[in-house]
Amino acid sequence: MRSDGILGVGRGGGSDQNRATASAVVESRRRWLKRRETWLVLLGVALHAVYMLSIFDIYFKTPIVHGMDPVPPRFSHPPAKRLILLISDGLRADKFYEPDADGNYRAPFLRNVINNQGRWGVSHARPPTESRPGHVAIIAGFYEDPSAVTKGWKANPVEFDSVFNQGRHTFAYGSPDIIPIFCSALPHSTWNSYPQDFATDASFLDEWSFDQFESLLNRSHHDPKLKELLHQDKLVFFLHLLGCDSNGHAHRPFSSIYLNNVKVVDKIAERVYHLLEDYYRDNRTSYIFTADHGMSDKGSHGDGHPTNTDTPLVAWGAGIKYPRPATGHSHSDSVASFVDKHAHDMPTPYDWGLNRVERVDVNQADIAPLMTSGDSGANVKRLEQETDAKIEQLKKEASRISNDVVAMLLKHVTTVKN
Ligand SMILES: *[C@@H]1O[C@H](CO)[C@@H](O)[C@H](O)[C@H]1NC(C)=O
Ligand SMILES: *[C@@H]1O[C@H](CO)[C@@H](O)[C@H](O)[C@H]1NC(C)=O
Repeated sequence: MRSDGILGVGRGGGSDQNRATASAVVESRRRWLKRRETWLVLLGVALHAVYMLSIFDIYFKTPIVHGMDPVPPRFSHPPAKRLILLISDGLRADKFYEPDADGNYRAPFLRNVINNQGRWGVSHARPPTESRPGHVAIIAGFYEDPSAVTKGWKANPVEFDSVFNQGRHTFAYGSPDIIPIFCSALPHSTWNSYPQDFATDASFLDEWSFDQFESLLNRSHHDPKLKELLHQDKLVFFLHLLGCDSNGHAHRPFSSIYLNNVKVVDKIAERVYHLLEDYYRDNRTSYIFTADHGMSDKGSHGDGHPTNTDTPLVAWGAGIKYPRPATGHSHSDSVASFVDKHAHDMPTPYDWGLNRVERVDVNQADIAPLMTSGDSGANVKRLEQETDAKIEQLKKEASRISNDVVAMLLKHVTTVKN
């Protein structure tokens, strides 16, 4: 006897016919149970799938609000005609500012700038501290939306505006993972990137970007059209320097190769500066040097540890203030521009030797309005507008949802009643 025991039949005697009917009933009952089980399992799987998808639907939404009015620039006569953006991928703040074992600083040129010519600080990145979200924060002024993870942080799930888009022309050289994000769909851009796995020593990648830039200026001596373009205003030159990132992954940030790459990057900043000052001789170039994210001691990045989020920022050139002596105990910290919860008041380590120069920290996404309007407060203004737009959108959605919910509940209630 098998499972017919539940029904309590087939135990004691009875006629053959009775037994046959009983076992037929049992058989059909068993089949019915089995079907029900299958349905139950399928229902369970379907429900779990719906729950899991709902997480994506609810949280993985783009934060970009479309149709905003551009914030007008603060100056009618901007002090700069062109902007140089140097991003050293994976360069963490402490390795950049601190001296080496012999007491020599690794970035002598940029230190000289900090002490005599421009402003410095720590730019606070936000996790995920990956290259793409970092560059999007610097160049487009918002923190990458989580929906980009569905494209592997490669393509743009939603089109967005950027500093490059608002300029007259952008020249960009660097990694094939970064440059095309901003430039491939931009008609007013000239860009180039090296093939993947291009060099064995990664600092060579930095040299490549510089050579491209130098040969652009060289070409302009024989190309009147290019020369004319280079003398227009609203130009952006972007050099993406991947060396520190690759060397940090391969050899960790304590290795001599990584530390040497910091020197290479400083040298490139110096060469770019002298090249441009020689080329234009008009004092109307602004320079921004920063990094997209840091590098943890293990040679990785992505999380919110200070080694990953603290990156250097050095700004100098047209329109940028000269250094000021530090006042009081700490660097200036303008409360309005820090809307997230970073520990901005990390004191300047003594061995950086910069305690006497005023330090200006920024959130990474504030670099974009700094580049466009010279005012990192503009981001606060934009955020206010965006928040208004978002609240309006939420209100609209809420009213739509509640109608749907009410309709569904009503329908349910009526079916139960019938
Ligand atoms: C650009 O021109 C200078 C001076 O003529 C030369 O030394 C340099 O090698 C050239 N650079 C490139 C990348 O062609
Ligand atoms: C550029 O600045 C330097 C140093 O301040 C000054 O000597 C020079 O005359 C300026 N050049 C122009 C074209 O304004």
